[in-house]
Amino acid sequence: MNKPKGTYDVTTNGSTWLYLEQVFYSLCANYNYQYIRTPIFETSELFHRGIGEGTDIISKETYDFTDKGKRNLTLRPELTAGIVRSYIENKMYADSNKPHKFFTFGPAFRYERPQHGRNREFYQAGVEVFGIKSALLDSEIISLGYNYLKFLGFENIIIRLNNIGNNIMRTKYKETLLAYLSKHQAELCQDCQVRMNNNPLRVLDCKIDNPKSVIQDAPSILDSLDEESNKYFNDLQIHLEMLDIPYVVDEKLVRGLDYYTDTVFEYIIDTDKIGNQNVVGGGGRYDNLVSTLGGPDTPGIGFSFGVDRIIEILSLLNVNPTEKSLIDVYLLGINNNIDSYLLTIADALRMSGFKVEIDFSNKNLSKALKNLKGQPIRYLAIIGEDEINQGKIKLKDYQTTEEYTIDGNDLIKFLDEHCHQKD
Ligand code: HAM
Repeated sequence: MNKPKGTYDVTTNGSTWLYLEQVFYSLCANYNYQYIRTPIFETSELFHRGIGEGTDIISKETYDFTDKGKRNLTLRPELTAGIVRSYIENKMYADSNKPHKFFTFGPAFRYERPQHGRNREFYQAGVEVFGIKSALLDSEIISLGYNYLKFLGFENIIIRLNNIGNNIMRTKYKETLLAYLSKHQAELCQDCQVRMNNNPLRVLDCKIDNPKSVIQDAPSILDSLDEESNKYFNDLQIHLEMLDIPYVVDEKLVRGLDYYTDTVFEYIIDTDKIGNQNVVGGGGRYDNLVSTLGGPDTPGIGFSFGVDRIIEILSLLNVNPTEKSLIDVYLLGINNNIDSYLLTIADALRMSGFKVEIDFSNKNLSKALKNLKGQPIRYLAIIGEDEINQGKIKLKDYQTTEEYTIDGNDLIKFLDEHCHQKD
C-alpha cells in the first residue's frame, strides 16, 4: 500500500522538522505569544464564510466530507478560520488585556496539483493576533516571521508588501479594475474571464498564464487608498526600515483569500531552484473576519509559513539549520554484570539535563569502540567493576582524547562545567 498522492512521510529529516518546530515555538514565546491548537476538521460553512466562495481554495481545493451524523465537514485548508472560530466561541475577546497573541503549528489540506513544495497535506506554522490595529503591531508580526527565516539560516529573504485598504476602498478599486480587465478580457485565461466579474481581485492573484503585461499595467490599488490607510502604510514601512527588514512594495499583491484588509505580505526566498514555490509564507490583516464569523468587531492580523516548503528550500540550498547534537556522555559497560549500574548513572544524568546514550551491543570492547567511530560524542565513559568499587568514573574527551578520573559524586558538577549543550 502506498501513501495518498500529495502526502509524505517524515523519516530521515525528522530532526530538521523538530528543530523548525522548536525554534518557532521559542521565538514566539520571546514575542510573548501563547500556543493555540484547533481541530483539523471544522464545519464546511466556517471555511466558506471565512475564506470566501470565490477563492481557488474554496471553489477547488477543499477536502469535504459528510460524517455519519450527516454533518458537512471540511479538513482545514488553512489555520486562521479555525482560530478565529475558537476565539469567538471561547469569548477570548472579552479579555480586556489586548492584543491577544497566539501561535500555532499543524497540518492543513488542499487538493492541489502536487509538485516540489506543494503538497495535499502540508504543515503550517503561524501566528494570529487580535484586538489591536496598529502599524507597530503589523511590523512586530512581519519581523517575527523575518527573524524566524533568518535564524534558520536563509539569506536571500524578500518581503512583498501591500495595502489593499478597507471594503469601501476595495469596492471602488474593483470597479476601476473591472473596467480595465474588460478591455483585456480576451487575453485572460478561461477561469479569469469568469472570475473578473465575480471578484476581479482574484485575477491579479491567478496562478495560470495571464499575460504578464496585462497584470503589470493594471491600475494600482494604492491609488484607491484614503489618507488614513496611506499613513498607516507609510508608518509600517518606516518601522520595517528601522528594523532593516528587506521589503518591496508590490501593488499587485492581493493574496488568495478573501478576508484580508489593509496590510498584506508574503515571505519569499529569492532562489530560482524551486520555481513559483519560493513563497514560504504569507499573511495580512483581517479586520472584518471576527465579525463576519459572528463575533464582535475585532481587528486581527497573522501569517502562516509553509513548513514543508521551508524544509524543501533549505535542502535545495544546502542550508542545514540543525547543529549536530552531541551526546554528552556515552556509557560503555565492559560486561553485563554492571548493566543496572549503567542504567542508574544514565538515569541520574538524563534527569539533570544531559544527553546520554548507553551501549546496548554487548560486543567486546574493541568491537564496541570501533562501532563508535564518527558518532557525535562529547565524553566516553568506559565502566567496569573497578570503577564501581572505587566510586570513580573515567571520562575520555572524545575529540581531544584527554582523560579525566572523576569522583562519582562530582560527575554532574564536572559535566555542568564542561558541556555547553545543557539547557
Ligand atoms: P496561504 O498563503 O494560503 O495563507 O498559505 C501560507 C503558506 O502556506 C504559503 O505561503 C505556502 O508557503 C504554504 N502553502 C500553501 N499551500 C501549500 C501547499 N499545498 N503545499 C505546501 N505549502 C503550502 C494562509 O493559509 C493564511 N491562513 C495565512 C494567514 C494567517 N493570514 C492571516 N493569518
